[in-house]
Amino acid sequence: MRRKLVVGNWKMHGRLSTNTVLLDKVIAGVRELQRADYAVCVPYPYLSQVQSKLQATNIAWGAQNLNQFEEGAFTGAVSPGMLTDFGCRYVIIGHSERRGLFHESNEIASAKFDAALKAGLTPIFCVGETLAEREAGVTEQVVGKQLDAVLDCAGPKGLAKAVVAYEPVWAIGTGKTASPEQAQAVHAFIRQRVAQQDSQVAQALCILYGGSVKAGNSAELFAMPDIDGGLIGGAALVADDFVAICRAAQ
Ligand code: PGA
Repeated sequence: MRRKLVVGNWKMHGRLSTNTVLLDKVIAGVRELQRADYAVCVPYPYLSQVQSKLQATNIAWGAQNLNQFEEGAFTGAVSPGMLTDFGCRYVIIGHSERRGLFHESNEIASAKFDAALKAGLTPIFCVGETLAEREAGVTEQVVGKQLDAVLDCAGPKGLAKAVVAYEPVWAIGTGKTASPEQAQAVHAFIRQRVAQQDSQVAQALCILYGGSVKAGNSAELFAMPDIDGGLIGGAALVADDFVAICRAAQ
């Protein structure tokens, strides 16, 4: 039986003062929830803040990106080791905003995936199709190719130490959620694709759904057999909503 995981993706939101208020409420709301795992992925400058606030709680933390190199002349970049210095467990890799707005290819995403694993971080590897791709009927080809990029370089053994997040691009921040059945179909496809290489890894793999998950729709999504939790954007910034989603994962 896979344990559910709920991860908040703060994106480029937050300030020291508002983070304190949000974290205090989330810590109090999630404290009693022992049957699932929880985390928040925050902007780099706030890693120290979340480390000190979350270290004695049942909420883990992580970053939203990293650079694939260990160190060097890469102005503005952050290495995997810098994230582990701040106690990160997770790092989001290949989010569609990184792929779309920052032109990250499947090759870059898989290099980052590899670098995260080498540093002992758990990558949350994002895959998902655009609306045009869904309408053209190529969702499985697109998601399959994104997944193959990491399977080819890290293999199923690499994926065994990672989390996958299926995030249809058309559902992110749009208020348009994939129906539980639509999401389940792609989650099952992902598990099946991994099973072709290693059925044990596929069976144990945690596959999150992301894309306009809210307090009101989380329970029905999490009830699907291949949906193991959620990657939550907008609703992770509202304490009551995030706590309600965490509760739905119990
Ligand atoms: P959303 O974002 O919940 O605001 O749609 C999800 C994500 O991008 O991870």
